[in-house]
Amino acid sequence: MKSIGVFTSGGDAPGMNAAIRAVVRSSLFLGLDVYGIKYGYNGMIDGDIYKMKSYSVSNIVQRGGTILKSARSKEFMTKEGRAKAYEQLKKRGIEGLIAIGGDGTFTGANIFYEEHGIPVIGAPGTIDNDLYGSDYTIGFDTAVNTALDAIDKIRDTAASHDRVFFVEVMGRHSGYIAIHCGIGGGSELIMVPETSTTIKDVIETLKKGRDKDKTSSIIVVAEGDEQGNAQEIAGKVGQELPALDIRVSNLGHIQRGGSPTSFDRILASRLGLAAVEGLINGEKNVMVGIVNDKITYTSLKLAISKSKPINEDLMRLTEILNT
Ligand code: F6P
Repeated sequence: MKSIGVFTSGGDAPGMNAAIRAVVRSSLFLGLDVYGIKYGYNGMIDGDIYKMKSYSVSNIVQRGGTILKSARSKEFMTKEGRAKAYEQLKKRGIEGLIAIGGDGTFTGANIFYEEHGIPVIGAPGTIDNDLYGSDYTIGFDTAVNTALDAIDKIRDTAASHDRVFFVEVMGRHSGYIAIHCGIGGGSELIMVPETSTTIKDVIETLKKGRDKDKTSSIIVVAEGDEQGNAQEIAGKVGQELPALDIRVSNLGHIQRGGSPTSFDRILASRLGLAAVEGLINGEKNVMVGIVNDKITYTSLKLAISKSKPINEDLMRLTEILNT
């Protein structure tokens, strides 16, 4: 293999730039040409592709977002779109790909490999931390710390005004961010899609808190919770407990931005190098990950089809610490 391409796709995540840098510098170190593909699969289809040099990734390790830009491509979901993308790669002699993204990105990569046989290695880049085959994904740690900082600030107002706050964090299908910032932020309850928490449970938790003379509470809600979003849940609780002063805060996309933590930069750098080495060593159609601090390669099929279970110990911990 002489020439590879790298791209970011799906929702951006802090640390993607550190991963791009690691891919580019490792490729050059190992004697490969490396092409940057802009706007994910859209850029692959349109030929928005350029040769990268060492200086192309200078001064980006600390930057959030992605210098290669990102997109969710509708055209790549079609056979014709994928055929166009393949022609663009072939024209430039690109023989392998490194896809930095989440499950949508890897679903596309998997089909592309099956249709056109181009070896693809996925590097897990998503704040959701929901990919089977890696203990952590690039961006998760930064997103948790951003959410935590916001919760600490919200707590000041909650305490000053004796209020109940429902704080919504990202995670359409996954409660990892909610669980980690909920525990770190000392929340009374964490509501995630992976476990069922009823409105009755919420009301009981709040009543118990009041019985123990708690004057304020923070409930962290993952956006994909089965009871609805934080606004809807707060509305239902407010109807049952009208005496409470309830507020809702949706943290939204601030969780996706900002300078990556050292944890995310190191994770991204390790995964970037391991992705390049994987391609050189003949790995194909796999996601590189870190499990128990060791580099692993998991088939893309498994990474996208198996769900990563949440840590039940952490849910128990929240309950105990809320005594
Ligand atoms: O997958 C990352 C993520 O931030 C999810 O947590 C969230 O549900 C989704 O992306 C939001 O996507 P968009 O930026 O397209 O609104």
